Amino acid sequence: MFEGQVALITGASSGIGRATAEAFAHEGASVVVNYHKNQKGAEEAVKNIVKMGREAIALQADVTHSAEVKRMVDATLNKWSKIDILVNNAGDLLARRTLADMTEEYWDKIMALNLKSVFLCVQAVWKRMADRKSGNIINVASIAGRSGGGVGTTAYSAAKGGMITYTKGLAKELAAYGIRVNAVAPGVIATPYHERYSPPEILNKFIAGIPMGRAGTSEEIADVIVFLASPAARYMTGETVEINGGMLMD
Ligand code: NAI
Repeated sequence: MFEGQVALITGASSGIGRATAEAFAHEGASVVVNYHKNQKGAEEAVKNIVKMGREAIALQADVTHSAEVKRMVDATLNKWSKIDILVNNAGDLLARRTLADMTEEYWDKIMALNLKSVFLCVQAVWKRMADRKSGNIINVASIAGRSGGGVGTTAYSAAKGGMITYTKGLAKELAAYGIRVNAVAPGVIATPYHERYSPPEILNKFIAGIPMGRAGTSEEIADVIVFLASPAARYMTGETVEINGGMLMD
């Protein structure tokens, strides 16, 4: 489906990002596996993609810094001269913090990682997409951006809610250039994220509230991201697709 296309996936060394990188490669794309600190995970993803007979490179960049984003995008363009698909997946809760232990520093870090990073990556690639009148941007938001989230996630939820709104604004602004912008809002997905922040008592409580009775998998999110970038979704833009086993419906 994506033969000859180039997909850049941020935070692709683990979890949803890695599954997305591998899913695009499976459909024929050449893939940039961006990573922050987990070089080993990124190299494994590249190895898996090369085994499929596709091309991939691992590029280190902290997506909260414009200079590092620019370096990553320049390296991609040097290799393949274009970017067809950008998946803004990098994101994190960093810690569970209620208002009682919220700090200005933590708030700013959460906003930089989960919201500013999207702006920086989109700004670095959109002109190249616009020149070719073609591009797809998919943002990985969260159920928390709709519901307000679980305990200690207010800042993260606000950032992800901002991402959903930003997706709509960008979709309007970039439609004239042939660029579609959509988002996914995953529910509870079994990735290193929950291993870090959700001890069994919290995770079991979440799962008890899921009509389908289980957490989702990274591959179940990746499949929808691939759909959003595909011609099957050619009349969709500004949409956030809920993928949560029925945990939130509206
Ligand atoms: P993960 O921890 O495996 O993936 C997060 C990725 O972001 C990692 O690869 C990490 O290295 C990368 N990252 C963190 N800071 C970065 C930075 N400054 N620059 C570049 N990359 C950076 O966890 P998961 O679950 O796969 O998370 C992927 C996305 O999905 C995140 O945006 C997360 O907020 C979102 N999400 C996850 C849910 C879940 O239940 N696991 C639910 C809803 C949203």
